[in-house]
Amino acid sequence: MDKEIFDFFTTLIEKASGIAYGPSKEYLVESKLLELGQTLGYKNLNELYLKVKNQLSPALLNSIIDALTINETYFFRDTHPFEALKNKILPELFQKRTDKKISIWSAASSTGQEPYSVAMLLLEYFSYYLSSYEIKIWATDISLSSLKKAKEGIYNQIEVNRGLPVYFLLKYFKQKGSVWEIDERIKKMVKFDFLNLLEVDRKVHEKFDIILCRYVLIYFANSTKKKVWKDIWKCLKSGGYLILGGTELAPLEFPDMERRHIGKAIVFYKKE
Ligand SMILES: C[S@@+](CC[C@H](N)C(=O)[O-])C[C@H]1O[C@@H](n2cnc3c(N)ncnc32)[C@H](O)[C@@H]1O
Repeated sequence: MDKEIFDFFTTLIEKASGIAYGPSKEYLVESKLLELGQTLGYKNLNELYLKVKNQLSPALLNSIIDALTINETYFFRDTHPFEALKNKILPELFQKRTDKKISIWSAASSTGQEPYSVAMLLLEYFSYYLSSYEIKIWATDISLSSLKKAKEGIYNQIEVNRGLPVYFLLKYFKQKGSVWEIDERIKKMVKFDFLNLLEVDRKVHEKFDIILCRYVLIYFANSTKKKVWKDIWKCLKSGGYLILGGTELAPLEFPDMERRHIGKAIVFYKKE
């Protein structure tokens, strides 16, 4: 791939989303852009490049973001954080929150498997509380195509085979030909919105009891990672929990932050 074109697109995507593609990812970027160019009817990468350089519309930028984000996800990913939610975090919050409100934010929800896993957990194990508590599950992402799929709540066989216990599949999904649609009760528990994590400080004005920010900061450069982490930490209520991906480390520590081991999960607790 021409260096000028690679540099142009990687600078564009980093400015727009924070995702930093280094030179070792040239092949990946090229194949993703070639696929996008084909879908949009451009003859080659150079044609797409000239179009983007000279006439970048918001819709075209969204298509580039869709093409260059990595949307890999699956139900109950990593298992341990969901065990921690079930065995410790949610029971503790149900006890502690006397205003009877619990809010959860899946901050990079991709195609919905993460927030829907939380919703299934709540319905399966905490249904007793659901009638008297106001529970909010907010799920956000920068990829419009991922958000569309998440809202539809329809998954193919491979997707439901990844991480989802058969018991949950049979209980909370309906089979429709070759695909599975998530139960309306679960769908209704999650609100999906577009949100760029680079804009959390300007766009998110509420605080949450639980924030899941998993497998997204890993794609950002260090300075971006730290900024987003700081902004997200501000959105966590005292006594709340922030959860990263299983292999991720906290980019920064704060005085009111306490690393807690819950079972096999490591979570970040905001001191009260
Ligand atoms: C690998 S997926 C992780 C999904 C889920 N959290 C999980 O752990 O299974 C990363 C997601 O981050 C989203 N993403 C990347 N940059 C983002 C940004 N600046 N703002 C919001 N979402 C972003 C991508 O669109 C993608 O859906």
